[in-house]
Amino acid sequence: MASRTKTLFRCRGCGHEEAKWLGRCPSCGSWNSFAEAEAPKAGATRGAPASGAPGAAAAVRPLPLRAVETKEDIRLDSGLAEMNRVLGGGIMRGASVLVGGEPGIGKSTLMLQAASSLASPGRVLYVAGEESPAQIRLRADRLGICGDRIEILAETELGAVMQAAETLKPVLLIADSLQTLYTRETDSHPGSVTQIRLCTQELTEWARSRGTALFLVAHVTKEGTIAGPKVVEHMVDTVLSFEQAGTEIRMLQAVKNRFGSVDEVGLFRMGEKGLEEVRNPASVFLVHRDGTPPAGTAVAPVIEGSRVLLVEIQSLVIPAKGGISRIFSDRIDVGRVARVAAVLEKHAGLRFSDLDLYVNVAGGLRVAEVGVELPLALALYSARMDLPLPDRTAVAGEVSLAGEIMKVPGLEKRVRAAREMGYTRLIGPGNGSAGPVECLVSVSTVARAVKTAFAP
Ligand code: TYD
Ligand code: MG
Repeated sequence: MASRTKTLFRCRGCGHEEAKWLGRCPSCGSWNSFAEAEAPKAGATRGAPASGAPGAAAAVRPLPLRAVETKEDIRLDSGLAEMNRVLGGGIMRGASVLVGGEPGIGKSTLMLQAASSLASPGRVLYVAGEESPAQIRLRADRLGICGDRIEILAETELGAVMQAAETLKPVLLIADSLQTLYTRETDSHPGSVTQIRLCTQELTEWARSRGTALFLVAHVTKEGTIAGPKVVEHMVDTVLSFEQAGTEIRMLQAVKNRFGSVDEVGLFRMGEKGLEEVRNPASVFLVHRDGTPPAGTAVAPVIEGSRVLLVEIQSLVIPAKGGISRIFSDRIDVGRVARVAAVLEKHAGLRFSDLDLYVNVAGGLRVAEVGVELPLALALYSARMDLPLPDRTAVAGEVSLAGEIMKVPGLEKRVRAAREMGYTRLIGPGNGSAGPVECLVSVSTVARAVKTAFAP
């Protein structure tokens, strides 16, 4: 009997597969979304390396860990120190990186700059789905990039992309953007969840098998809610988010990183000649003004990865609208603000009932580390009492529910950074047995911190 190709049914919405047709997809809940699709041939899995790829037919055997070969130059230098740091020390060969950000934030500029300064022999394949090659050439000219090693491919059909990549064997493959790619394996439209999933799967597997680094550029909306790129975060090794802080600062942060930490922030300034790395990052988020800072503000040296950044915590306390007090804070966790306010009520004699609390971090950095709690407490106190903190005073420390000031990591580093920026006093926790630190005024409780900071 002649063998028949087995058919299955795939959801056009999410790619879920079933052996029989269903009216409603059990995975994403779409109605009438199933279409007949050809099953992969026996022995082959969808997205597996093309025949001839290393390991395509070879028997798979485990390998003693010590026998696994590593290449010394497994990381590529992007030529951008800020980007290397965020990635955990450079671009990993064979790794896939999803680069998400709002339209216009500078993703294509970043990609072009990284491609041009990649300190590694070999070529870069730039798949241009958003812009024409001429537009990319214009941007390159503007940035002063000669682009000898960059090949532009104005094609978004996955088969053609893979064929070009197979021929060129680039060290880096950039797909700009992932949402413009499509595969003929499904008839759903480019940018749909199914397309994004299938394209990501094929590309990441290909990149891993060939040792090519892969950047997938993805647009996300302001709320970061667009379904597309989110659904492939688990398929890639690293997810970077590119965001704006203030008018000209751009922050590059890892949301997920298999090959490094997610604490580092890469800082760039968007200028006439593209993205410039911020060389002296400690002060970029500071608000520069003469004289005593206004009530409601406190300067905090916060640790972001391996660096200290000085930020200004701002707060405003006003009578609650509608009688119920609420907290508005999108740079510091609302739960943390509520907890610190509760500690101030209990241990510093403040009342926040019937008041609305607004908290912000100037410059737009989101601060998630514990060292921001004491500065937050003093900013809230300052706002509530309408008393400014003295000039040239910085604050660091964690606040316990019992009103104590807890130690924070990197205290000396924070004091040093504050001193370098002209702060003459840092109110913070004790330095333990490590001894006195110049400029550090140690306090053991919130009550003492308030007294020390606001004493006439
Ligand atoms: P782009 O890289 O196209 O953003 P994305 O790919 O994320 O959509 O950058 C777009 C913005 O950057 C655009 O508004 C112009 C600005 N820009 C500069 O200010 N200076 C420059 O040198 C370049 C190339 C762009
Ligand atoms: Mg772009």
